Order: sequence, then C-alpha cells, then structure tokens
Amino acid sequence: MSELYIQRDDWKKEKHMPVIEVPENIQAGEPFQVKVSIGKEIPHPNTTEHHITWIDLYFHPEGGKFPHQVGHYAFTAHGEAVAGPNQGPAYSLPEIVVSLKVTKPGVLHALASCNIHGLWESSAELKLA
Ligand code: FE2
Repeated sequence: MSELYIQRDDWKKEKHMPVIEVPENIQAGEPFQVKVSIGKEIPHPNTTEHHITWIDLYFHPEGGKFPHQVGHYAFTAHGEAVAGPNQGPAYSLPEIVVSLKVTKPGVLHALASCNIHGLWESSAELKLA
C-alpha cells in the first residue's frame, strides 16, 4: 500500500509551498499569531480552473506522539459566476492569519491543497522564550 503523496520543496522556487511565519519570543500560554501563505515568492494562479482549495495547520508538540490540528481553512471563491468561469466578483486569497497559544515548544506543519497539483507541506519550529 502506498502512502499519501505529499510534496515538499523550496518555497522560493515552488509556488505551491506554504510559507509559515511565526514571531520570535513566543511565551508558553500566551497568544500569538501565525501567518501561512501560498505563493509568497511566485504567485499561484487563483482562477476558477486552478486555485488553492484549503490549508490545514497542525501543531506537533515536542516529545508528543501525535500532531494536533489547529484548524482547517477553506478558500471557496475563485471567480465563479452564472456568467461563467472567472466572471465572478470574489476571489479568496490563499493566506491565513491564525491566533493560537501553546504550552510546549514544537513544530507547526502547514498542508495545502491545489485543485490540480495535489498536496504540499511545510513546517516551522516553534521555540518558546
Ligand atoms: Fe497549482
């Protein structure tokens, strides 16, 4: 049986890679914001035919066995309209800003889905001050 095919690459060269931005000096139990975006260096298309459909964010605490899902963020407007594809008035952009707090250091994982090109994953270490 094969595993789920998840792609990883350099976000500066690959337009599908999620970019995770975390602040420095995160304190245990104190809220902070994380930004996740797709296409920071090379924009990904955002059309009815080709777009990012969602981002999942997970936190895997240091020493823990399992990742914890922080959230699922869906992007559902891509120019769809009665008049036809790409004629609609709304386009959701593939970026999120999430507020969260953690009690342990660990790793954030962002998983993004392109409707044509599959799943893409990146990670960022969360250190506590
Ligand atoms: Fe794509």
